[in-house]
Amino acid sequence: MTNKNYIAKDKLGNNKALEKQREMKDKEIKEKNTTPKNIILSIKNASYRYSDALEDDYALRNVSFDFESGKMYAIRGRSGTGKTTLLSLISGLERCTEGEIIFDGKSLKNMNLDKFRNSDIGIVFQSYNLLPFMTASENIILSMDVSGLKIKNKKEKAIELMEKVGLKESYADRKVLRLSGGEQQRVAIARSLSYNPKMIIADEPTGNLDKQTETEILEIFKKLAHEENKCVIIVTHSQNVCDSVDVIYDLKKVKEESDK
Ligand SMILES: Nc1ncnc2c1ncn2[C@@H]1O[C@H](COP(=O)(O)OP(=O)(O)O)[C@@H](O)[C@H]1O
Ligand SMILES: [Mg+2]
Repeated sequence: MTNKNYIAKDKLGNNKALEKQREMKDKEIKEKNTTPKNIILSIKNASYRYSDALEDDYALRNVSFDFESGKMYAIRGRSGTGKTTLLSLISGLERCTEGEIIFDGKSLKNMNLDKFRNSDIGIVFQSYNLLPFMTASENIILSMDVSGLKIKNKKEKAIELMEKVGLKESYADRKVLRLSGGEQQRVAIARSLSYNPKMIIADEPTGNLDKQTETEILEIFKKLAHEENKCVIIVTHSQNVCDSVDVIYDLKKVKEESDK
């Protein structure tokens, strides 16, 4: 429409340079509106059926969500809606039965999933999953070793990561067994950052914590998203979590969905 106007004006003898200028402005606006967002992960029509399930018994059906770097997301849904299943797909523990997941422009279908898990994605669990008889820093260093990280002073790096999540250096040599729940979750977040992944996913990370500690942990995730450009995805039941994130995605029961 706008272009037609310019052509009409040109026919009337208007200045060609002005027309060119307007065309460029139009192009600029169009590009701005169509440039893809900063999408790091895209779930496209993903469905998943466990191998022992009946033919039509899907744990997840036709899910499509986009996730951007620098944002924090909540995936919300009642028990049995497939939240954990979805995280297994995102973290490359399982492959979609149908549909696909694109990470950083590449399909997980063609990716070495072990390498993906050990370098591109950090995982935080509800029950921390730390090794209790090892110290906080040993837990973090172990994760660096598993991912094949080659840096000189791993302990120094571990302490730096611990400080980032609000744990003083003196915690480094403390056995995990002697840490509170909130402190353990901080160590687990520091561990998930050990190989500097682009994305952090967490399955009910505050499910075992009191509200005050939950708020503190959420602040850490928020900083990682907003100041360090990580994509943070949290599966949750908690309203407090939903109130803290940038985007909420709802998962519905597969049966309810198809009943509609
Ligand atoms: N290993 C499994 N084998 C078969 N079915 C499963 C398995 N794990 C989960 N399911 C089923 O998949 C559906 C979604 O489960 P899940 O992803 O654990 O949901 P949520 O984490 O939201 O509670 C449920 O119906 C559950 O019974
Ligand atoms: Mg679950």
